Amino acid sequence: LKPPVRVAITGAAGQIGYSLIFRVASGEMLGPNQPVILHLIDLPFAMTALNGVAMEIQDCAFPLVQGIVATDNQTVGFKDVNYALLVGAKPRGPGMERGDLLKDNGKIFTETGKYVNDHASRDIKVVVVGNPCNTNCLILANQIKDIPKENFTAMTRLDHNRAQHQLADKLGVHSSDIRKIAIFGNHSPTMVPYIDQMTAKNHKATVDQQWVTQTFIPTVQQRGAEIIKARKLSSAASAGNAAMNHITTWVNGTPEGDYTSMAIPSDGSYGVPKGLIFSFPVTVKNGKYSIVQGLPISPFYQGLLDKTIKELVDERNAVDHLLK
Ligand code: NAI
Repeated sequence: LKPPVRVAITGAAGQIGYSLIFRVASGEMLGPNQPVILHLIDLPFAMTALNGVAMEIQDCAFPLVQGIVATDNQTVGFKDVNYALLVGAKPRGPGMERGDLLKDNGKIFTETGKYVNDHASRDIKVVVVGNPCNTNCLILANQIKDIPKENFTAMTRLDHNRAQHQLADKLGVHSSDIRKIAIFGNHSPTMVPYIDQMTAKNHKATVDQQWVTQTFIPTVQQRGAEIIKARKLSSAASAGNAAMNHITTWVNGTPEGDYTSMAIPSDGSYGVPKGLIFSFPVTVKNGKYSIVQGLPISPFYQGLLDKTIKELVDERNAVDHLLK
């Protein structure tokens, strides 16, 4: 067994937390040789529930769990942490504008950024799940002084996985047979599922354009809303699963001949303004991701990219005061 690593999960008393934490504890995220010390963080009002979650983890007697820190104190919560899955965020309430959501969460992620900067391990890898995740990540990373900016990412893997399933279903193959697809842009209804290079069972695969525009893209973009309608609760197990997939791929790499989707600081690729946290197709090797370059962008896709870029620029402008 390797020495233990510390994994922080915020919003740990929430519904994503409840499915995610147990799978991380079982070794599914970092592998069967990697012991973990779980840092479970939530707000003061949620501590009783969080202690219940901690008791349940104890009662699983997981071989890989070497400690549980359950806390509402972020100094303790982020101390020496190697991986952080930032799920906790303020949900959008009735009548709340997107701008209000950005501001309220902006405060949360500014504060968290300071704690991460002051207390976390310098090699920390962060994925922001709490929405609006791209801009929350931007705000967080802005507080960081001496940890590489590329260690701060946001999650579009759920959108990627959703797209993979829809395409597999359409083509009559298994979702693991679908490769070379990606999500560009914001984790929001403007996201761009890009499939022009798609392969199925290692052969180039195409689907008709009408299905892409009228069915596929809207289905992926609206899947979260569809699940809320069905479950009366937002997607939780699939979101937790995607957060784990994001970290596992970041650590273990992408398979040869495939790529995945991660929202990362833009380096200007594909005309995306530098610094925006933007989802790109990436390959990962030795714990480092690189943007897949040179994918052909049709006028159809360029139109969609322009919209999601504009949305993220508007979000950045709305929180400009937090980025000084
Ligand atoms: P939930 O409401 O069940 O749980 C959220 C938990 O976060 C609560 O226990 C709350 O007390 C806690 N929390 C709030 N602010 C916090 C803070 N500053 N520090 C620590 N904990 C804090 O919500 P759920 O369903 O678990 O979703 C969490 C977030 O994930 C939401 O923002 C949701 O929009 C987002 N999400 C993102 C997805 C993505 O694809 N990026 C997919 C699905 C959900």
